[in-house]
Amino acid sequence: MTSVPSVRPAPSRTGIGLRLAHLAEVVADRPDIPWFEIHPENFLSNPHAAELLDEVARHYPISVHTVGVSVGSATGIDRAHLNRVRALIARIDPFLVSGHLAWSTHRGIYLNDLLPLPYDDESLNIVAAHINDVQNALGRQFLIENPSSYVGFAQSTMSETAFLNELVARTGCALLCDVSNIYLSAHNMGFDPNRYIADLPIDAIAELHLGGFTREDDDTGGTVLIDTHDTAVSEPAWALYSRVVRRCGRIPTLIERDSELPALSALIVEATRADSIIAVAAEACHAVAG
Ligand SMILES: [Fe+2]
Repeated sequence: MTSVPSVRPAPSRTGIGLRLAHLAEVVADRPDIPWFEIHPENFLSNPHAAELLDEVARHYPISVHTVGVSVGSATGIDRAHLNRVRALIARIDPFLVSGHLAWSTHRGIYLNDLLPLPYDDESLNIVAAHINDVQNALGRQFLIENPSSYVGFAQSTMSETAFLNELVARTGCALLCDVSNIYLSAHNMGFDPNRYIADLPIDAIAELHLGGFTREDDDTGGTVLIDTHDTAVSEPAWALYSRVVRRCGRIPTLIERDSELPALSALIVEATRADSIIAVAAEACHAVAG
């Protein structure tokens, strides 16, 4: 297990994913939003956006959520890309840095998707080695996000939660628990989301995500939930979120929206709802403790 500095104190209120369409408005108006999460890949080859991001980072805590550091890739992580992300991190000093339990590159080819991997010893060795590489390169703890799933692999020998527990134990990484992904994957894969939450290494969770999905008919007459991030958070995901925060307490939560972007005010309404749920959960925990 690599020795890595743990995450620094984080804002307690709910943040919002900052997309390019809202960037100029945030710089100009400085809305009352406690923190933002950004995808570094949106800024690495866009100097004007990078300049605006520097301005945002002077006034708000930032979380960096990579989509291009492919810790699940069998052919290794892209060092040049990791170095570019490291330089951005050095500039804006984020309070969290995270990525996905997935792969998106193969032999230098970038695939514009977060692809699944089998949960077996071979994958575990590869992903753990890559997380150690990332944490050593960045000099800080990396958070791994649970994926949204549509298919499983016959060769998997362990559950996703067992795989995540092993990664935490071997690397000292933290977890980004995407609650909507749990709901969506449980629907698509037919598992119990409450069981999944109970099996997570709860002390390792350092951030929560909430995002929207799209419901589509599948070929068998059933429905499949697609992780589109283009709708508001669904009611079942809010209910699951309430159960998660009752278990893990006050964890920085992010409202994640990537397309069909509404006005910032609509995202603030969702963030306020998350804050209310956290407050109720904290009160319930306090009452039980008292
Ligand atoms: Fe997410």
